[in-house]
Formats: sequence, structure tokens, C-alpha cells
Amino acid sequence: MTSPNEFTLKHWPAAVRAFHPEFAVVLGSGLAALAGAVSIGAAVPYADIAGLSCSTVPGHEGRFLFGILHGRRVVIASGRVHLYEGHSARQTAAGIRCLAALGVGTVVLTNAAGSANPAFAPGSWMMLCDHINLTAQSPLTGGPDFIDMTEVYCPRLRGVFRNAAKIARVGLHEGVYLAVQGPQYETPAEVRAFRSLGADAVGMSTVNEAVQARALGMRVAGFSCLTNAAAGLGSAPLHHGEVVETSRRAADDFLALLENAIPQF
Ligand code: HPA
Repeated sequence: MTSPNEFTLKHWPAAVRAFHPEFAVVLGSGLAALAGAVSIGAAVPYADIAGLSCSTVPGHEGRFLFGILHGRRVVIASGRVHLYEGHSARQTAAGIRCLAALGVGTVVLTNAAGSANPAFAPGSWMMLCDHINLTAQSPLTGGPDFIDMTEVYCPRLRGVFRNAAKIARVGLHEGVYLAVQGPQYETPAEVRAFRSLGADAVGMSTVNEAVQARALGMRVAGFSCLTNAAAGLGSAPLHHGEVVETSRRAADDFLALLENAIPQF
């Protein structure tokens, strides 16, 4: 049983129907500049696709960019919508169903997150080896999609990115991402609880997209830009501006990772 997909190619402008993307990258807060490395052939605002919503959050654009990165056809989903904006889990995963309708089989999800692991410094990247979904939501609600979640984040892709990190000389942690609904940041007591549950990073996105992508049979890789020490582990209060600014500065490292990983996809 696969998750129903309301999107079909007929939703897309003729220019991109024949594009046949090889993979997709979903950009988290402050990472829109990554798209600068892609030679863009077409841009489609989410607002032009019936059934897709736009984010209201600073640091999130709302458009698909079709282009070439390192010789491969890629769709960049620049911006996403979140549960904390009032969307359902199914709505937050609509972009993933769109990508599946376009024929995307591999999706790289990125996000900004707080580091709950004192060994993972702000400004560094963490590759997701697993997640804990504390949003208490699922994009699959309403259907009997009893999908296996043993290996959400593709082990082969993780190996590819591990190698890419060595080649690019970019430090890449691996750990467990825990998702909450937000929009408020966590309390120090919550962060202590999450650490005891096994979380290395905490954020407000990604998990429901990953669930949706797996339900559609896509290969998934996930990356957190650790923009700050999670509440209680750093010395200053958290600000969204700091999150966006740190991920902007870390974007080049992710690009280096991606460029070295792409030839091995
Ligand atoms: N908590 C939750 N989400 C986040 C954080 C955080 O500390 N930083 C960036 N996104």
C-alpha cells in the first residue's frame, strides 16, 4: 500500500514536465543560498501549484528550482511549510508528494536544528542516522500505511556522504534528530529529557517529510545544520535570526559535501 498522491505531472508547467530530475534537495532555514550553486533552468513558485502552501517564516522561500548541479538534474525545494504555521502533517509533506510525482527517487532533506549533544558544536553539520518523531503527527494519518521505519535514512547514501565528507574535509557528525512541533524553542528541562531519549539534535521539521518519502518508496538522506546549542546547553537565549545567520555561514560546507557525494549517488 502506498500513500495516495494528489499531485500529477499535469500540475506542472510544460517546461518542467520533461525535466526528469535525478534527485531533490529540500532546503531548511537560511540555506536558500545553496541554490546559487545550481545553474537554474526554471523556477516554479509553490503558489503556482494547486495544493501547495508557502511558508510565512523569514529565511524560507517558497519555490522549486530546476537545474543542474555537478552535471546532474536536480530539483531544489527552496522553503518548506511547518506544523507550527498551522499546517497538518499531510500538508507539510505535500512538497514530497510533488517531487514523487515529478519522478524524484532520491531526496536530501536539510534543516536547521539545535545541538543537544555537547560534542556537536554550533556551525557544524550532522547527518541523520535516525529520528524521533515527537510531533505526534504523521502525514499518513487516514490510511493503513504500516510502513517499516527501520532504515528511514538510506544506509548506502549515508556511506556516500561519509566518504564525501572525508574528501571535502568537512566535519560531519552522525546522530539522531528529534522533532517537536514548536514554534517555541524548548525549555532546558525538555532538552535534558530529549538527550536522555537519545536525541543529538532538536528541530521542527523533516520527520514527516521523511515518513512521506519512505511511504512513496524514495531514498532519503537527512542533514541538520546545528545552528545553536539547544536551550540550557549554551550561554545565550535563542533567536531565529541567529539560526538563519549560522546556517547561511554553514551553507558552503554542505555544498562541498553535496558536490563530492553526487558522483556516487
Ligand atoms: N530547537 C528547535 N528548532 C531549532 C533549533 C532549536 O534549538 N535551532 C534551529 N531550529
